[in-house]
Amino acid sequence: MIYPIVIYGATALKNPSAPIEKDSIDVKQLSADMLATMDAANGVGLAAPQIGMNIRMFVVDASPWAEEDPSLEGFRKTFINAEIYEYGDEEDYFSEGCLSLPGLYEDVKRPTSIRIRYVDENWEEHDEFYDGFAARVIQHEYDHLEGKVFTDRLSPLRKKLVRNKLLGFTKGKYSAAYRTK
Ligand code: NI
Repeated sequence: MIYPIVIYGATALKNPSAPIEKDSIDVKQLSADMLATMDAANGVGLAAPQIGMNIRMFVVDASPWAEEDPSLEGFRKTFINAEIYEYGDEEDYFSEGCLSLPGLYEDVKRPTSIRIRYVDENWEEHDEFYDGFAARVIQHEYDHLEGKVFTDRLSPLRKKLVRNKLLGFTKGKYSAAYRTK
């Protein structure tokens, strides 16, 4: 099933998300649905709050970029109850967008590497290191679980410059090539 995507201003994007208890929901089905929803919107990542569910789960797919960056080979994954427990010292800027903020792109500063623990859709545990684009995508999706979006990380000046755009989202003034609500 393809879900409509929740737009900036919705409470689901501001609330912190709760951990998922094993066998409490069909995470395999939800993972498949979230990946399908992300694919239909041409997204690189999608967090559960973006489909209105405040649970700690997100999906990513940067595997189409594997030709340019071999580290992204197979980077189509589901992260459940993830915990980023270590950040690298280096930071850089990268232009980010978000399916919940259609048409808005801004440079966001983040650490370039992370270590993360999580379970996947088969409830298998993982403890992994990521850097580069993968670390960027994971941190963006992880923020959604904390009730944050990328514009929360902008400088006060940049925030001021996107204020009208953000206000527009809350009033339904945006266009998206996918189903929203
Ligand atoms: Ni996002």
